[in-house]
Amino acid sequence: MGQRSQFSVSALDWFLLAWLLVAEVLFVLMAPPAWAASPADLVARGQYVFAAAGGCGCHTEPGKVATAPNAGGRRIDAPFGTVYSPNITPDRTTGIGTWTDEQIIAAIRLGRRPNGERIIPVHPFMTFNGMAAEDLRALVAYLRTLPPIKKANLPKRITVPLFESVFLPAWLAAFAPQENPPPSAPTSGLARGEYLVRAVGHCGECHTPRGITQAVDNSRFLAGNPNGPENSAVPNITPDKDTGLTWSEEEIAYYLGTGNTPSGDVAGSLMAEVIQGTTVGYKDLTEADRLAIARYLKTVPPIRNKVSKKAG
Ligand code: HEC
Repeated sequence: MGQRSQFSVSALDWFLLAWLLVAEVLFVLMAPPAWAASPADLVARGQYVFAAAGGCGCHTEPGKVATAPNAGGRRIDAPFGTVYSPNITPDRTTGIGTWTDEQIIAAIRLGRRPNGERIIPVHPFMTFNGMAAEDLRALVAYLRTLPPIKKANLPKRITVPLFESVFLPAWLAAFAPQENPPPSAPTSGLARGEYLVRAVGHCGECHTPRGITQAVDNSRFLAGNPNGPENSAVPNITPDKDTGLTWSEEEIAYYLGTGNTPSGDVAGSLMAEVIQGTTVGYKDLTEADRLAIARYLKTVPPIRNKVSKKAG
């Protein structure tokens, strides 16, 4: 008492502190908004979104990552016929080089081609609709930097009469659940994990079972699909203790980064593809993002559903 404290603040200190606060406020106010990021930043962010989408691997034929990446031609058999993924390189005659940014974004999240034609929902636009606008813009900026590859798209063969004119629009309106975009992409915590799982990573496209209408049944979100895409058995990754995923958060994050399971096994089939990606994949996500995904998986409702691995 009475003694002048060692920590007393002088007028000069107050002045400096006030100035720092003012400078900080000015800095925040003057920082460019995300959409005005430099072109290089936008492309880097877009590449990261591409990684979080598993490298958009359906647009590369198996075994052609080195020779024809993103140039389409992958055959996908569905109950209504056969489709081939299109070329998404910026080639101006066979790819998407002449499309505007808005047209590419409409294709990704709304499933519409520039001519208004509907894209068959093998492309998961209902899920990608949950991507934040800034991430879509970045993704488009990245797509524009891909090497253009001249490779004509293969025509689809639809075997169900009136599929595109009648069935598909009705199905989209009546059954297909749709994700909704957040105002901006969450950057951390459970919200980040949820965003990566539900929208960008489109985990549910493979891991959520489908009902008789073939729409994903989100009342059993991530509960596994014995008849997954390309005849794969897709495991239950809800935290059900008997039939689901019981790995620790660290183990899940490690698996997404390496493909290695806690029992010394390695990821196979389509999961190996999305982890490896094409130019980039899940393996290129930051540890923080892989952990955010793992933490979110622990919070989804546990659902009892045993999915057995396919023989062979
Ligand atoms: C293109 C389809 C596809 C997508 C997309 C996909 N997975 Fe998978 N996943 C699979 C398949 C198929 C397996 C089984 C792999 C195997 O047999 O080794 C699998 C296996 C797993 C496993 C191992 C489970 C176990 O019990 O062995 C985890 C964990 C997993 N996926 C998490 C995810 C997460 C998280 C996402 C989204 C960020 C995701 N997957 C997206 C198809 C997919």
